[in-house]
Amino acid sequence: MKTHRSFVKMKNESDKIVMMTAYDYPSAKISAEAGVDMILVGDSLGMVVLGYDSTIPVTVEDMIHHGKAVRRGAPETFTIIDMPFMSFNISKEDTMLNGKKLFQETGAQALKIEGGHEVVDQITQLTQAGIPIVGHIGLTPQQVNVMGGYRVQGKTNEEAKRLINEAKAVEEAGAIALVLECVPEKLAAIISKEISIPTIGIGAGKDCDGQVLVYHDLLQYGVDRLAKFVKPYTNLNEHVTTALSQYIKEVKHQEFPLKEHTYSINEDELEGLYG
Ligand code: KIV
Ligand code: NA
Repeated sequence: MKTHRSFVKMKNESDKIVMMTAYDYPSAKISAEAGVDMILVGDSLGMVVLGYDSTIPVTVEDMIHHGKAVRRGAPETFTIIDMPFMSFNISKEDTMLNGKKLFQETGAQALKIEGGHEVVDQITQLTQAGIPIVGHIGLTPQQVNVMGGYRVQGKTNEEAKRLINEAKAVEEAGAIALVLECVPEKLAAIISKEISIPTIGIGAGKDCDGQVLVYHDLLQYGVDRLAKFVKPYTNLNEHVTTALSQYIKEVKHQEFPLKEHTYSINEDELEGLYG
């Protein structure tokens, strides 16, 4: 299995790191078989698989439940699990207990925490306890209500400076990698140069050390609206709808099941069975 050292090496060799989100056994298994470098069990699962309208309702238990399924589907792939809303903000003790649960019960390789300066203590403490941490700055969806919507971050000189400083602070706290979400390409390029841990971008341009997309966005599966930064590589909504409509039609018209889908019994074994 790759380690976070492998990812630093990839950064230094300009070998782009491919991260995919996965939330269950099949998405993990297929991602691993396709050859992604790392898997993120993102709290985006709240939206794309649980149907909430933000990541805020997602619990530690939800993350463990999905994280375990992902690990069963991709036991050989470096897997990161999101610490969900308010699971690392209440107190040191609460953060450490949640970190312990998420890390121990799933067997993941790392956890991810959203935030900059305000979470450096948590990153240090969890790292010192033996839990590798991935940072996440720029657009941090757990802060959506404070930020006033999902918007590009770091568009002014002042904001850009703050993000560069946050990236450095997160690295200094011991993070093994850093997700940059929805920041201008040039800023993401500067941050990627300024820090020695790999940056993984989503809506952050081509100069990050790696890229991540949400599984259901990339496949257009169960999602309608896609953000500007998503490239849909197929449209499973269409494929699945076509298949299900055909199934419904064939059942209604008694065209399914056919003989080839059916088990038989010898006529004489039926003796006395008819009413
Ligand atoms: O939850 C998630 O899927 C994420 C990625 C978009 C980085 O945090
Ligand atoms: Na997330």
